[in-house]
Amino acid sequence: MESNHRLSILVIHGPNLNLLGQREPGIYGSVTLSDINESLKSEAKSLGVKITTMQSNHEGDLVNAIQSALGSCDGLLINAGAYTHTSVAIRDAISAVNLPTVEVHLSNIYRRESFRHHSYIAPVAIGQISGFGDRSYILGLHALTHYIKQMEKSG
Ligand code: DQA
Repeated sequence: MESNHRLSILVIHGPNLNLLGQREPGIYGSVTLSDINESLKSEAKSLGVKITTMQSNHEGDLVNAIQSALGSCDGLLINAGAYTHTSVAIRDAISAVNLPTVEVHLSNIYRRESFRHHSYIAPVAIGQISGFGDRSYILGLHALTHYIKQMEKSG
């Protein structure tokens, strides 16, 4: 890949994340999804990467978005919401496109109900950031950008 290539990252938000701000604020905080997307965009700008964001409540739409990243994006930042714990299809899509992926969660899924302790996505992700509220996304963006840049450097 050419060295002046501008990295492109697709940010994927899964089900119910469109309700952030009003949804269980004691768990997820008062920040809205558009606030998160705005702060991701400004962070991306300072990192020199391009981001595209999408949200869907539908599993198949999330699979389509992951597939569409092939050939157009360098990495995926994903909060699959409840599909984290149920979706073999999303996991397979990530595995199929083979793009570096960072999994994020606002809440610490390991401090919550046991059905949230298992992630289908974790084994196909570089890593997971969970429990830092909306900051999880910014931390995830940094981790993913750093990882891709290192990969490109090592050729
Ligand atoms: C979540 C955690 C999931 O267990 C839950 O279903 C969500 C949000 C998080 O960001 O903390 O919808 O992914």
